[in-house]
Amino acid sequence: MFDWDAYAKRTEWFTHDRFGMFIHWGLYAIPARGEWIRNYERITVEDYQQYFDEFDPVDFDPKKWARACKNAGMKYAVLTAKHHDGFCLFDSKLTDYKSTNTRCGRDLVREYLEAFRAEGLKVGLYYSLLDWHHPDYPHYGDMHHPMRDNEAYKDLEAGRNFDNYLTYMHGQVKELCTNYGQLDLLWFDFSYGEMTGEKWRATELVKMIRTYQPNVIIDNRLEVSGSGFGSLLSGDPKPYSGDFVSPEQIIPPEGIRDVNGKPVVWEACITMNNNWGYCSTDKNFKSAGMMIKKLVECVGKGGNLLLNVGPDAKGNIPDESLAILDGIGKWMKRNSKSIYGCGLAGLPKPDFGRITRNGNLVYYHVTEPLIGFVPLTGIRPDQIKKVRLLQDGSEMLVADSWITDNYPDIAFVSFGASPELPDPIDTVIEVELKG
Ligand code: GLC
Repeated sequence: MFDWDAYAKRTEWFTHDRFGMFIHWGLYAIPARGEWIRNYERITVEDYQQYFDEFDPVDFDPKKWARACKNAGMKYAVLTAKHHDGFCLFDSKLTDYKSTNTRCGRDLVREYLEAFRAEGLKVGLYYSLLDWHHPDYPHYGDMHHPMRDNEAYKDLEAGRNFDNYLTYMHGQVKELCTNYGQLDLLWFDFSYGEMTGEKWRATELVKMIRTYQPNVIIDNRLEVSGSGFGSLLSGDPKPYSGDFVSPEQIIPPEGIRDVNGKPVVWEACITMNNNWGYCSTDKNFKSAGMMIKKLVECVGKGGNLLLNVGPDAKGNIPDESLAILDGIGKWMKRNSKSIYGCGLAGLPKPDFGRITRNGNLVYYHVTEPLIGFVPLTGIRPDQIKKVRLLQDGSEMLVADSWITDNYPDIAFVSFGASPELPDPIDTVIEVELKG
């Protein structure tokens, strides 16, 4: 039986913090064509070895990453400990295919965890269930393996022992859960076709995880991928349902609720350009202003935003990403009270923007200039204790004007004489309700 009380307690920090950094980093940063390059270009393990032999991120400084994360107003981070290519950014005793065996010689996961904890950030690790390096993972005929349609691998499938891979995979997850201190989040990726649930021996895996990391929260991809929700919405979640739904490259149009209409914990993971891993030619970066509005949209719909950076082969977060993080951070420094601890408002969405809410504090996010007064839709004047412009704490008076007389059940406020918004991206009005 799913322990809903333990679940609520376990996910409390997550639904408070709302905003995290996803970090996709590994050998694929060298070819710099995204983290699925082996799949897209059908690169053999042998041809990919050159990147292992070369990997030496001379500029890697996780303290810089941690500062950029914190300054953006992010409260947690998730680093790829192992992606689909099977390369381990940690000193696993179960493989030689790891960062400590490259020229870099460093346990990158350990350094990341220490640096991000030192900045007071919660720490998570992404771990790929897929493994395109391991000899016992299905190759020919698999849905995603780089050798999935390479005839030369067809006769080799009979010799693969998937249980050996599961022993390896469970063993590595145990290493991460026992050798690196407290983990706050485990982000598995991903289930597909028959590769789901007990095919991963997921119940046994989660039981082991909870033995060593009882408070860690887990995503839902032991069951699904970005496609599908998993049993978390079923009203009776499976032991490996995970703790949150992980929509990918989309913000759920209406948030996410389970079969009983109960809001579900969810986190949208989104890239800054169009790649998770470093892609040198992908300059299609979203603006800071856009990502601020998307963060507000996630929170207003009761979810989190996990915003991705893909550091390059030398260990640097791209300048474009740093600029976006800096822009978001400037807004968050003045307005984070409308994000942290906030969620669904239970009020109609205003046509000038969005609403987030934390108890009797209601935050109107005005992203579009209005003609005259701002209607605080859903709130009557007599319900209001006070109104403040969040960015500077200045008082905003509830309007008493013939102009708004026709709408006595709606409270109105004004930004003053200028037709421009105080903050052109998102001006936040904090309304404290009585009682
Ligand atoms: C997809 C991709 C993977 C990426 C993940 C992030 O599952 O396979 O490369 O890490 O999305 O959510």
